Amino acid sequence: MEQKLMIKGGYPLEGTVHISGAKNSAVALIPATILAESTVTIDQLPDISDVHLLRDLLEEIGGVATLEENTLTVHPEKMIAMPLPNGKVKKLRASYYLMGAMLGRFKKAVIGLPGGCNLGPRPIDQHIKGFEALGAKVTNEQGAIYLRADELVGARIYLDVVSVGATINIMLAAVRAKGQTIIENAAKEPEIIDVATLLTSMGAKIKGAGTDIIRIDGVEHLHGCRHSIIPDRIEAGTYMILAAAMGQQVVIDNVIPLHLESLIAKLREMGVYIESKDDQIIICGNQKPLKGVDIKTLVYPGFPTDLQQPFTSLLVKSEGTSIVTDTIYSARFKHIDELRRMGANIKVEGRSAIVNGPAKLEGAKVKASDLRAGAALVVAGLMADGITEITGLEHIDRGYESLVDKLMGLGAKIWRENMDVEEMEEIRNS
Ligand code: EPU
Repeated sequence: MEQKLMIKGGYPLEGTVHISGAKNSAVALIPATILAESTVTIDQLPDISDVHLLRDLLEEIGGVATLEENTLTVHPEKMIAMPLPNGKVKKLRASYYLMGAMLGRFKKAVIGLPGGCNLGPRPIDQHIKGFEALGAKVTNEQGAIYLRADELVGARIYLDVVSVGATINIMLAAVRAKGQTIIENAAKEPEIIDVATLLTSMGAKIKGAGTDIIRIDGVEHLHGCRHSIIPDRIEAGTYMILAAAMGQQVVIDNVIPLHLESLIAKLREMGVYIESKDDQIIICGNQKPLKGVDIKTLVYPGFPTDLQQPFTSLLVKSEGTSIVTDTIYSARFKHIDELRRMGANIKVEGRSAIVNGPAKLEGAKVKASDLRAGAALVVAGLMADGITEITGLEHIDRGYESLVDKLMGLGAKIWRENMDVEEMEEIRNS
């Protein structure tokens, strides 16, 4: 039975919220286990639907993958180069990491083109350019990518676009290639360092992850290891934003403050009180009216595109005009119409949203069109007067572990309800 999320807004938030392991690391670490020849254990995985899907995909190719609590144990020995043109592979965008990992281990792979959030065009040309440079022949046949190589040989690859996905995928394909691979203009996101750390523990030779030049010396074999994933900076940022909107005092626990510097700086500029220490960030929001600010999303360490949508909800209640520009995904504005239904004064012009605040939000029936649009609507629902009903929950469940429990722990009035057949019909037709 499909469910919707119900929020009775206007209640102050207080307490501690524990941040889970990073989704965008998890979705690369799990495919990376394919490259090992003995057992890999990953701890602190977030309990989200993308993780379950990837575990199932490892089993589809013959692996044994057990998920207990937040620990995944993978026995990759019996995996085979099973083609995955359809099915679960299409349900998540990160299945593109199966291309790099399977190519790296088997020298061939067939992977259905990725699904995931609809943020406008999301090409994978840079991934393919990297695979081809390593010696793979890549073709697109009826919606699936076919990769095949007689052997993979290290190469110098310059990325025309700074891409998290392409950087990680090329690392996966290159760690067992012959000779040296150099990735130039690589992305520098913390998730890339996390994947490099796992691969290094498996025996790979990688230098420079986290800088824009990554050097990989190929090795013949990789072995099992145990790895603990980094905390999710986007989940943490989402809770920071809602604490800034509605928090008395909220402690964000299990976070690396360095990963959130751009958000911390922007929140401070708005007048939010923030303290950070070791693995915690403390936010005292709701003290005085917030000042609007402009943001522009950029690659790490710039302001993350994944926080642009929830941050826009916060700007709705801030004073003055704020301009939000997304330079990574120019069409990532599907949450704006929904925020307007709730009373926000926002318009989209080109790749920017112009927010005039403060506006008083009223609860409404809204739909999450993608994961972070869902997060934006949750922030708005917590701020609004009355009840907000959010459908499209399957998007939110892809990226936020125990959202309802975590928010209830902070004092929010939030619950899930089953939808009846008529409601489901209405949503499908909307
Ligand atoms: N791009 C290309 N060609 C490519 C690859 C990317 O033109 O071959 C462009 C994209 O269209 C985009 C930009 O380069 O304009 C950056 O894309 P990137 O490859 O870095 O993004 P991604 O790997 O597809 C990951 C996260 C996204 C996050 C972006 C940006 C995963 C599974 N996804 O996507 O996360 O928005 O990096 O940081 O790691 C989310 O968590 O909600 C989410 C969408």
